[in-house]
Amino acid sequence: TKVAVIFGGVSVEHEVSVISALQAMSAMDDSKYQAIPIYISKSKEWYTGDVLTDIDNYKDLDQLFKQVEKVVLEQENEDTIVLKKKERTLFSKGVITTIDVVFPVIHGTNGEDGSLQGYLELLGLPYVGCDVASSAAGMDKVMMKQILRDANVPIVDYEWFYASQWHQDQTAVKQLAESVGYPVIVKPANLGSSVGISKANNEEELEEAIELAVSYSFKVIIEKMVTDLTEVNCSVIGDYEEVESSLCEQVLSSDEILSYADKYQSGGKSGDTKGMESVNRIIPAEISDEATTKVKGLAEKTFRLLNASGVSRIDFLLNPEGEVFVNEINTIPGSLSFYLWEPTGKDFQQLTDQLIQLAIK
Ligand code: DAL
Ligand code: MG
Repeated sequence: TKVAVIFGGVSVEHEVSVISALQAMSAMDDSKYQAIPIYISKSKEWYTGDVLTDIDNYKDLDQLFKQVEKVVLEQENEDTIVLKKKERTLFSKGVITTIDVVFPVIHGTNGEDGSLQGYLELLGLPYVGCDVASSAAGMDKVMMKQILRDANVPIVDYEWFYASQWHQDQTAVKQLAESVGYPVIVKPANLGSSVGISKANNEEELEEAIELAVSYSFKVIIEKMVTDLTEVNCSVIGDYEEVESSLCEQVLSSDEILSYADKYQSGGKSGDTKGMESVNRIIPAEISDEATTKVKGLAEKTFRLLNASGVSRIDFLLNPEGEVFVNEINTIPGSLSFYLWEPTGKDFQQLTDQLIQLAIK
């Protein structure tokens, strides 16, 4: 089975995606699957070639681009590689490779938000993970919360506004934001990996936090901050028929907001492939059995409410009173959450196997 793994992309989470994709490709059972790397550069060009599977080659991109083939979409040319519609083929110098399934491993914009999924639908290619609607709803933190709130899933209080509103009337937007009650967390509504997120305790910090968030997104969400919180994540795998939840992890953060650096850079030497493994975490989470059951149940419910499929990670906030709030769903989680499945007896190879099988069943 030929599996085209698409990664990189224009997202602010580009580097994280390279790590997740390389991990996934090396985990795949090579007696069953042939992984074909397709790397989307930050300038939106598509490349393929075996050199893309070695993390060290990403240290010098100019050099890397000399050794890869450009993937041209639907344009016949003997010297380039053509990804052809309908025939599902990667066509390179006379060698035709039929792609059986695509495995999108792009976090955030243009990869996790339904746009790539829509493109693959048009090409008629089966793909791993969420469909267009669930990807899009999962990427927009406001839409996601509206769906969850409608189903009485516990979430923290929030408000949202467009960046354009901020530019027109800062006083009105500040009033709206302050109605949530300090302290608040200010987030771009449609990014991942904590990019552009900050905390505000007062008006001055709020202004700064909003300026940062609007520099990243057209839409901003203001969430009530849970104080003395415990962050717990749980992964769910499955599709519309059947779902299964993983162990829960407790995320230990050096700051109050788990930053991009916490997630991907702490302890990670350049050139390694640690990714989400480098975050300080306790597995299983040190929370009561009752809380664990609640988290797992809500993780599965969230997955189903969003029509998710493949593997997702649902992130929770727990307060000292034992209340559990769903924070968000990540429909292409870092490292595909393999570390939450491994201790349950499903290793990374079995995880990739199950995901591919779900996509082509
Ligand atoms: N968006 C990153 C990759 C995550 O939450 O896992
Ligand atoms: Mg996220």
